[in-house]
Amino acid sequence: MILPIYTYGQPVLRKEAEEIDSSYPELKELIQNMFETNECADGVGLAAPQIGLAIRVVIVDLRSLVEDYPEYADFKRVYINGYIVEDGGETIMMDEGCLSLPGIHEKVPRAEKVRIQYVDEDFVEHDEWVEGFLARVVQHEFDHLEGKVFTDRISSLRRQMNKGKFSALLSGKVRCDYKVKVAKK
Ligand code: NI
Repeated sequence: MILPIYTYGQPVLRKEAEEIDSSYPELKELIQNMFETNECADGVGLAAPQIGLAIRVVIVDLRSLVEDYPEYADFKRVYINGYIVEDGGETIMMDEGCLSLPGIHEKVPRAEKVRIQYVDEDFVEHDEWVEGFLARVVQHEFDHLEGKVFTDRISSLRRQMNKGKFSALLSGKVRCDYKVKVAKK
């Protein structure tokens, strides 16, 4: 089932998301719905707050990037109760966008690699370093779990440049070709 994506201005995007356990109701369905919703919106990842749930569930699907990154040909992952515990390498600037902020694209500084701890959909624990494009997606999605969006990490000048787009989003004027739940003023 395709779910509406909550856009900038929705309070859930500013909440710190809570951990869940394996008794969380209909978790398998929720994960499936998140993958479908992400795919339908041409995303590479989705965090549960973006579908209105302040819980620590993130899905990442990099299969559409196979042409540029052949190593991601089968890459689909679920990260539950995830945290970034360490970062390393250099700081890299790269263009980002977010399904919750349609129309805004800015260069964002991120660590080259991060060490993450999480459980997968079977609640098996993982502790691993991720790098490359995946490290960027993981940092972006895990930010959502802390109530952050990518534009929190750009300069105030760049934010100012996007002022009109932010106020349009805040007043519910959202143009995109997927289902959304806009903020209401
Ligand atoms: Ni996002």
